[in-house]
Amino acid sequence: MSFAIRSGTTLGLIASLFTASGCQRSEPVQWEASQQVQNLAPALATQVSAAVQARSGTVLLPKMLTDAEPKSERDKFARELTLKHGQEVYMKRCVQCHGVSGDGNGPVAKNLYPRPRDYRRGIFKFTSTPYGGRPRREDLIATLYRGIIGTSMPSFRLLPKKDIEAVVDYVLVLAQRGELEYQLASEADASEELIEEDIPDFVQDVGNHWKEAAASLTQPLTPEPQLTPERVALGREAFLSKGCSKCHGEDGRGHTKDNIGKDSWGHSTRAADLTSGMLHGGQDPIDIYRRIMNGINGSPMPGFKSSLESEPETIWNLVSYVLSVSNRRREGTAVPAGLMKPYAEPVEATAE
Ligand code: HEC
Ligand code: HEC
Repeated sequence: MSFAIRSGTTLGLIASLFTASGCQRSEPVQWEASQQVQNLAPALATQVSAAVQARSGTVLLPKMLTDAEPKSERDKFARELTLKHGQEVYMKRCVQCHGVSGDGNGPVAKNLYPRPRDYRRGIFKFTSTPYGGRPRREDLIATLYRGIIGTSMPSFRLLPKKDIEAVVDYVLVLAQRGELEYQLASEADASEELIEEDIPDFVQDVGNHWKEAAASLTQPLTPEPQLTPERVALGREAFLSKGCSKCHGEDGRGHTKDNIGKDSWGHSTRAADLTSGMLHGGQDPIDIYRRIMNGINGSPMPGFKSSLESEPETIWNLVSYVLSVSNRRREGTAVPAGLMKPYAEPVEATAE
């Protein structure tokens, strides 16, 4: 008896996974229209959904909005196979958290903090592109290999490369589809109509966001220096004088009264505990450099490009300081007990 009760959630999850992966014959799986579309007048909702489906296909036959016209039937077929494979990997390994439509609302999502990403606005946190930009495909691949340590997002580095690449393409399909749906629904909502001739412009705009990102890798302004104790000390000064400590606290733990805000998806969020030894966006100096330069999309973490561009060494000093506080616990230095625990325990611990 007690067994049945305790494993209820697991069984529920397994059951819903089976439904999601189409093992039951009844309803074929479908992407759901967003709440915004569902709120439109029925005729407009149908028009938006048809336009989105024409560019992004369906769950069973996904299409990438930014793909060029295939050169041959053979190319077309190969691309279909890849996206289909991506869909299969997604339905097996991602859907529990990220949801069938990529809305970040899979069956286990509600209990997670931070919440799984809702891909449909095209907003991603850990990018190598300027603030506000879309991620590069390589950024998503890096996230899959690394996982987001300190959150429930696992590392998938044991998957074959082919699976990783295909599932990332499928995430891109969902993100571009979601962004187009959002743009069209916003237009339909604001103008109370959607002029059929205008749709190609929206499609092109969405496509351009993703194509621009592919060509806008942030490179450091100056080469990576040796990380010395002097730099750490200068970095600490900058951390206190450039406003970082306002959110992250003087000790970097994020225990400040006013650091709790909302992210772009409407969930509450707070400044990272930089001392936790679990930097979500990667532990390499270049990762931290990019977080500081570009900020973190969708979160209150601003980009410091415009204020630090004229003193590029300060950026490296800050990187040195962040790395040093991040490593303190690992080096065995006791960090004083704080007021609260910034993050829920990771559901699946990913070893370093
Ligand atoms: C156990 C839950 C879980 C599973 C399974 C999971 N994710 Fe995630 N994922 C998350 C969470 C939570 C976040 C958000 C972390 C954050 O905001 O820091 C996330 C974020 C992401 C991001 C966004 C990164 C960014 O820069 O914003 C991508 C891309 C992603 N996941 C892809 C995948 C893919 C692809 C799979 C399957 C191969 C997958 N995830 C499986 C929980 C999960
Ligand atoms: C307005 C508040 C705010 C300010 C000011 C701010 N941050 Fe942040 N920072 C955040 C938030 C919120 C996050 C967590 C974002 C997320 O992952 O959702 C964050 C995350 C980070 C991360 C990434 C940590 C990780 O897990 O990878 C680094 C590094 C960082 N901040 C450094 C800095 C530095 C250095 C400064 C000053 C130059 C600074 N921050 C200023 C709010 C702020």
